[in-house]
Amino acid sequence: MFISFEGIDFCGKSTQIEILKDYLVEKNKKIEILREPGGTELSEKIRVMLLDNKNRNMIAETELFLFSASRAQLVRKKIRPYLEKGIYVISDRFHDSSTAYQGYGRGIEIELVHRVHSLAIGDTIPDVTFFIDIPVGIANERKKKKSKGKLDRIELADIEFYNRVRNGYLEIAAQEDRFKVIDGTQTIENINNQIISEIELVDNR
Ligand code: TYD
Repeated sequence: MFISFEGIDFCGKSTQIEILKDYLVEKNKKIEILREPGGTELSEKIRVMLLDNKNRNMIAETELFLFSASRAQLVRKKIRPYLEKGIYVISDRFHDSSTAYQGYGRGIEIELVHRVHSLAIGDTIPDVTFFIDIPVGIANERKKKKSKGKLDRIELADIEFYNRVRNGYLEIAAQEDRFKVIDGTQTIENINNQIISEIELVDNR
């Protein structure tokens, strides 16, 4: 099974991924956890370019291509081989991040973003995607507390940008059945329970 997690920065994805990992390990599933951008040697190098604060003049199209380049590499070198071996793959962000951030957030036409996806990932699309949804205001509070003033290039964007990204995710949810919206303001345990029930549904299909 291929599972991805999505959400605006500071939504709590990483915590949920860790808990889900423990659950799947306990069920004797073989799993691999990947993160985007990154996950292969080359993709990690692209990640450094993407998040570097010195690259503030990066234009939206370059950003889309770099994220997609990193992803193309990850899909062919890691995700497909793992899935072929029956390994569960959990990805911390995947192509929906580009639709939400570069498409809805930066304003690249969604149809064009989809065309880039078809080249980068082909039919390697997650079976289920969890969108941990929190209001931008709450994300901002968490950002202030956790980051201690150290933000990467993308996290420096303004509130309007994050509102567009969040609304973009909600648009994707309205269009895609695999895309599950989880209220990220609930307790960690409630969020985890919801995720596990969905996984069990997909697993029994
Ligand atoms: P990261 O530190 O991994 O953030 P997080 O822990 O919130 O996932 O940095 C990834 C950043 O890149 C994050 O701000 C989201 C952004 N991003 C895009 O804009 N487009 C993409 O396709 C992906 C994968 C990430």
